[in-house]
Amino acid sequence: MKISEATFAGSSTRVSQKPKRTLPEFAFIGRSNVGKSSLINSLCGNKKLAMTSATPGKTKVVNHFLINDSWYLVDLPGYGYAKLDRKGREELAAVIRDYITGSEEMVLLFVLIDSRHDIGKIDLDFLAELGEHGIPFAIIMTKCDKQGPNVLAAQLERDREILLQQWEELPPVFCSSSQTHQGREEILDYIGSLLETV
Ligand code: GTP
Ligand code: MG
Repeated sequence: MKISEATFAGSSTRVSQKPKRTLPEFAFIGRSNVGKSSLINSLCGNKKLAMTSATPGKTKVVNHFLINDSWYLVDLPGYGYAKLDRKGREELAAVIRDYITGSEEMVLLFVLIDSRHDIGKIDLDFLAELGEHGIPFAIIMTKCDKQGPNVLAAQLERDREILLQQWEELPPVFCSSSQTHQGREEILDYIGSLLETV
């Protein structure tokens, strides 16, 4: 699938405020600073669509982008941003929980994980919560341009093993880079194949 048109469709902090037009939604989440907004821009071929920043905690609301006038791509706030105070963290967690458990149009949640480190407890806990709620997800490893191929392959294998301690089978796992656009075709084709089933 190719994205020929991507436009900002609105920000919300609760599902009740999201765009009224009902279309299939594909959402992106992960730790703060993992590269969600950058990946969305890479997928859409537009560097300015979603705001990116070297400072974690940039995205604090749910942003809907209308794609090809037929589905929404959804940028969610990051989880686990340590520098927020407790109230700020709880509010972000509420925004995330409300969307992922309440949005009936969400077809799939892409969980982004930084390819440079072992999957952390915070990611594993988040995935476990998805399992408890029966929320379908796939995994995208981000920033795959930052390491050489051998180091990257070893890290991916370690992450597979960590995941398999918790899960009987793995969901689809994609490798991506918003710098080189690695993974873009695969991720978009996967979305395209799911769109044919809804
Ligand atoms: P929050 O909205 O704060 O949760 O962050 P985010 O997950 O949306 O991350 P964002 O896309 O803003 O990227 C964070 C930083 O990582 C920025 O400085 C990006 O330029 C950098 N970055 C993101 N993706 C990549 C990538 O694939 N390769 C490289 N080299 N840098 C990346
Ligand atoms: Mg962001």
